[in-house]
Amino acid sequence: MKRVDDYRLRLGQHELVPLIIGGMGVDISTAALALEGARLGGIGHISDAMIKTVTDRRYDTHFVREKLKLYRQNIGNTDKSIVQFNLEHLAQAQRLHVSRTMEAKRGEGLIFINCMEKLSMNAPRETLRVRLRTALDEGIDGITLSAGLHLGSFALMEDHPRFRDAKLGIIVSSLRALQLFLKKSARLDRLPDFIVVEGPLAGGHLGFGMDWKQYDLTSITLEVLAFLKEQQLSIPLIPAGGIFTGSDAAGFLAMGCAAVQVATRFTVTEECGLPTKVKQEYFRAAEDDIEVNTLSPTGYPMRMLKNSPAIGAGNRPNCEAYGYLLDGKGHCAYIDAYNREVAAHPEAKKVSVKDKTCLCTHMRNFDCWTCGHYTYRLKDTSRRQPDGRYQLLTAEHVFRDYQFSTEGTIALPA
Ligand SMILES: Cc1cc2nc3c(=O)[nH]c(=O)nc-3n(C[C@H](O)[C@H](O)[C@H](O)COP(=O)(O)O)c2cc1C
Repeated sequence: MKRVDDYRLRLGQHELVPLIIGGMGVDISTAALALEGARLGGIGHISDAMIKTVTDRRYDTHFVREKLKLYRQNIGNTDKSIVQFNLEHLAQAQRLHVSRTMEAKRGEGLIFINCMEKLSMNAPRETLRVRLRTALDEGIDGITLSAGLHLGSFALMEDHPRFRDAKLGIIVSSLRALQLFLKKSARLDRLPDFIVVEGPLAGGHLGFGMDWKQYDLTSITLEVLAFLKEQQLSIPLIPAGGIFTGSDAAGFLAMGCAAVQVATRFTVTEECGLPTKVKQEYFRAAEDDIEVNTLSPTGYPMRMLKNSPAIGAGNRPNCEAYGYLLDGKGHCAYIDAYNREVAAHPEAKKVSVKDKTCLCTHMRNFDCWTCGHYTYRLKDTSRRQPDGRYQLLTAEHVFRDYQFSTEGTIALPA
């Protein structure tokens, strides 16, 4: 049987190991993790989710503090429409994150950035424009458009000098979403350079409803492959979601896919941004400990560990400091849910909000433990130590295991 290393992903003049480490916000797919993917000849993703928080932590900037200072007087106000991002600061943060990562790049692989449309930041077009164009300015190899249909995103970059040379692609979960995107991009005479098809077993937000169990990655992939063939479009197709072993990956490559995108296996690596204690939660998780719920204010279902501290927490909305999920009118579904609970329990010092979560706050604090469906198999990828904890893996170990393993095997660490 063939293995991943028997294939190569061709993107322009690049010839790559057909393995992509998917973007995981907020700084779960760190620059260090992405850089390993590139050093080993594949593709690694950084993410620009909550970028100002990320640079404050990594590069000692003070963007969050400054924004909070500016809008502090609005904290008690339900209407968050005045809480706007300073676009110059946004550009500075993006510049730092991308340029530092690109300066550190070694090897033949590539670094892409994951840009989620659902991070509407109280000014969807303006903020996305800055995020995309600044990433291009700073030399990012490619951009993966995610969490949204992105029907206007190519147009936001159209007049950028790197619009036709950077690798630009999109994540979709259905042929229909892809067709809509292709229709729009055809008008700019610019097809995507790659397409990621993300199935229902992925981590993070899902591009499906709560009926996600009715879908499967293989069927959607075959449908999209057939469509591309029929349309005579030779765009690399990259499945994602639940590809847990090198053999799973090789199966998709044999089917005609150009590469695979994976993430969950890398959540328990040293380079991953999750705190060490949280990585142990991922290792320990049983199948029953994982759920898909509707707590995310984005409106997309999200998969997470049931014991995530974010679930049922009732903190005051932190939009003045963060506010990444505010739609263009200063609104977020968590604000409504929180206010409803406060009104229902006027005496309570602290409320519990069960139906929505303040995603900005909890992603920032690594308290929303989003994960892929097969997180419960992570324990089989490492060794349990005498103290009960699992040995963390290196990104190189996991990458090479995907690249070289056969027969469904998973190499344990030395
Ligand atoms: C912890 C975690 C966080 C994620 N965050 C994001 C994200 O911010 N944006 C995104 O487009 N995809 C996100 N994903 C999806 C991955 O990029 C990837 O496509 C998917 O999880 C692959 O499936 P696998 O985890 O089963 O390998 C996340 C996945 C995980 C596990």
